[in-house]
Amino acid sequence: MSVTFPLRQARLLALALLAAVTAPAGAADGKAVYDAHCAACHQPDGTGALGLAPPLAGTLGKRMAFPEGRKYLPGIVVSGLAGRMESKGVVYEGIMPSWQQLSDAELATVLNHVLTHFNAAELPADFKVIEADEVAAVRVRKPTSKDLRAWRAASH
Ligand code: HEC
Repeated sequence: MSVTFPLRQARLLALALLAAVTAPAGAADGKAVYDAHCAACHQPDGTGALGLAPPLAGTLGKRMAFPEGRKYLPGIVVSGLAGRMESKGVVYEGIMPSWQQLSDAELATVLNHVLTHFNAAELPADFKVIEADEVAAVRVRKPTSKDLRAWRAASH
């Protein structure tokens, strides 16, 4: 025992150091990305703004139970979307810009921020965070507005 305890400590320390070293350089911070790029329209707390942008709070969590929903969120930030969108009984007709200039990791982290901070109560029990790889897979498909509308309709 007197030997295993320090060994265990050393292993934990090594793991912690490894985690620090392998974290991607400049790992994106979801709140920082949200505040910089999304809050102006969707508001800092995700409640949206009438006539400007729909809420992102309390409206997206259930979509995570559907494969279409897991594609829809990365898809809309990659491609953007314009036209009519109904949310909580209100019709919005604005322009959601494309955020294709942001990296897969930045888009994943901002979506996870939106999901875990503004939609925590509606997330499925087995919810797993959106990975950068999932964003990359949607990005290569370049979803059209038609794809996005179909995925939105299929995920609630
Ligand atoms: C210029 C204003 C504006 C900015 C900035 C903006 N959005 Fe949007 N967003 C919109 C509008 C408008 C819509 C609805 C699009 C439509 O009517 O087709 C929308 C829709 C969405 C939806 C779909 C909501 C639903 O109910 O299906 C998500 C998710 C979303 N935005 C996320 C983001 C994220 C994440 C960012 C920041 C990276 C962002 N938006 C930045 C205006 C904006």
